[in-house]
Amino acid sequence: MKYFQKALILAIFNLALIQKLQAQHLGKTPEGINIFKIDLSLDPEDRFVETATFFKEPVIELFQLYKDVISEAINYMFKFLDLITWSRFNERMQEIEGIADVLDLSSNQVMMMNFLYELDAYCTSIIARQDNGNLLLLRNLDFYFPNETKKITYIGKFYRAEKLLFEAPMFAGLVGVYTGMRENAFALSINERNPKKSDTGFMANIGMMFSGFSQISYLTRQVLQDCNDYNCAFSKLQTKTLIAGGYLILAGKQGNEGAVISRERTGTLFVQKLNDTQWYLVQTNQDHFDGKCPIRCQKANERIQAIGHKNITAENLRQNVLLQWPNLNFMSIYTTTYEVASKYSNTILVSATNLEDPGDLDT
Ligand SMILES: *[C@@H]1O[C@H](CO)[C@@H](O)[C@H](O)[C@H]1NC(C)=O
Ligand SMILES: *[C@@H]1O[C@H](CO)[C@@H](O)[C@H](O)[C@H]1NC(C)=O
Ligand SMILES: *[C@@H]1O[C@H](CO)[C@@H](O)[C@H](O)[C@H]1NC(C)=O
Repeated sequence: MKYFQKALILAIFNLALIQKLQAQHLGKTPEGINIFKIDLSLDPEDRFVETATFFKEPVIELFQLYKDVISEAINYMFKFLDLITWSRFNERMQEIEGIADVLDLSSNQVMMMNFLYELDAYCTSIIARQDNGNLLLLRNLDFYFPNETKKITYIGKFYRAEKLLFEAPMFAGLVGVYTGMRENAFALSINERNPKKSDTGFMANIGMMFSGFSQISYLTRQVLQDCNDYNCAFSKLQTKTLIAGGYLILAGKQGNEGAVISRERTGTLFVQKLNDTQWYLVQTNQDHFDGKCPIRCQKANERIQAIGHKNITAENLRQNVLLQWPNLNFMSIYTTTYEVASKYSNTILVSATNLEDPGDLDT
């Protein structure tokens, strides 16, 4: 009897949980991308259960494609690292465990997948001030297996206790944020810096993963969760020690609230800000502040200047810069456009017709 009661209570509880989770699918954007509510009031294990369930098949397909590199990294990890020091109480780890349960994969595999995107993604990000003073942030995200990755892309609307905090295009199975907009406050994106040059660099990064340092995509998520304004985001993005360097691109609502923060692991290398004459900034995957501006950087700059300050709009930056080769290329997955002041948000899945390798994706 006791056992039966317990089972019944458990069943009712599960049903309630499932219903709660199903309430998280909020339909599709006008561009056809699924939208999910991610509720930060839930236990970490439960937050990504519905998206992992919804996208289970294509996520596992993508995992298969990455299998070799993931198992190699996991073997390395087991050989050299003291797994006991893994923080079992770490919130991100608990989110990953919840995802791994749904996918029938080990937490290690899901963890490695989360780190792969960290170490080797390419991108173009642009911030621009329009003639009316409103700021735009646009980005292309480029990565391996773009077609398979498009199938697991959704828009996450992150809530805490019924309050919408921010939205972000997400990849099912991953908990980090690469692009996002905090309601009425700021928008940001990450571009990868110093893509892995050698396995030793890759392995050194793996070592850092277990030393308690932050993933850059987790730092951006924390900033989107916790910061109410541009200044908070601007200072937090510069301080935390990271697993790998990166470029953090940030735009507020208006005026000169825009910056590209070039990060190395332990601190900030360089900050480029908008000012009265510098009305836009482009960032790809090189240190532009150090004079390195290969083809994707050059073309984006040329095209933005051809449009001109007076004529700049979200639409012409998207159509005439980001959706043009080489900024749009064989690795491109999505293009996102934000205008914080007007709450404009648009993400489209993209495919290049010109598949020529720009040549600056892996330098
Ligand atoms: C990816 O999808 C695009 C558009 O559907 C298609 O043209 C292209 O051939 C696909 N690429 C691969 C490698 O399958
Ligand atoms: C704006 O920034 C650029 C460098 O990004 C600098 O050369 C220029 O002097 C600055 N202009 C003003 C008005 O501060
Ligand atoms: C803005 O664009 C229009 C048409 O696209 C063009 O005729 C005009 O000269 C442009 N204005 C400036 C200031 O470049």
